[in-house]
Amino acid sequence: MEISHLSDSLGAEVSGVNLATVDAVEAELIKKIFHQHQILLFRNQEISIVEHINFSKYFGPLEVHISKDSLHKNHEEILLVSNVKENGKYIGVENAGDSWHSDLSYMPKPSLGSLLYALEVSEIGGDTEWLSMYDAYDTLPEDTKNRIHGLKARHSFNRYKNKRIGVPKQRQQGGRERYEKISPPDVFHPVVRTHPETGKKALYISPRFTIGILDGSDDEGQDLLDELIEHSIQRKFIYHHEWRVGDLIMWDNRCTLHLACRGIPEGQIRHMHRTTISGDIPV
Ligand code: SIN
Repeated sequence: MEISHLSDSLGAEVSGVNLATVDAVEAELIKKIFHQHQILLFRNQEISIVEHINFSKYFGPLEVHISKDSLHKNHEEILLVSNVKENGKYIGVENAGDSWHSDLSYMPKPSLGSLLYALEVSEIGGDTEWLSMYDAYDTLPEDTKNRIHGLKARHSFNRYKNKRIGVPKQRQQGGRERYEKISPPDVFHPVVRTHPETGKKALYISPRFTIGILDGSDDEGQDLLDELIEHSIQRKFIYHHEWRVGDLIMWDNRCTLHLACRGIPEGQIRHMHRTTISGDIPV
């Protein structure tokens, strides 16, 4: 395996590996590289759905996403991230990840990591960005680190509760009621979490799912959250990826955020499969 850096802050491309035939020994090595770089890119992969699932399982059990109408018909572990339509309806989540987020942070046990595999990509748009929440934490002023020490934040799947992101048109199908039906109860997680494998501290908030901080008045919490979000989303912490067919990217949800950049012209197809690895309670 050969490794090259993707950006100054995070990410590595791993070449010389065929994900269809990875064995347990190679998977252990990949895990180590993963913990060092937070996101890994594997290019030119030709893997079946079962091979995607099997590779993902080396890192932990898989989640079945709560957006049930966007799951693969025969493999519920696969979330379709796709703008393909059948009978006038999107077959998957068309605008997954359109605000910075960490997958499943709205659950009591959020996701450890996710693996997104590109089957078809648009000529224009459809890029994805990741940012390092280790770097976001490390570069905070000392007094902010002291201020947020021990604080917890509220995470919610329900877009209607989130003043920062609103509800885009495509998400309004079913309205507030749909969100209330499918959203699990809000959860509270530490604002700073310690990565269970590396022991490093990472900020654990996002504009998509974090809706408040449990400390002082609501306004105070909102101001602090705005400050932390603004500090986190800095170019120097970000890796920007232009997809090619056959790319598989795995990322660590415990120490990164990601964003789907969108901008796909009408009529161009972007079709991807995602698996989501189960994780632990953040501490
Ligand atoms: C996601 O948030 O899992 C999807 C990101 C993307 O579609 O670029």
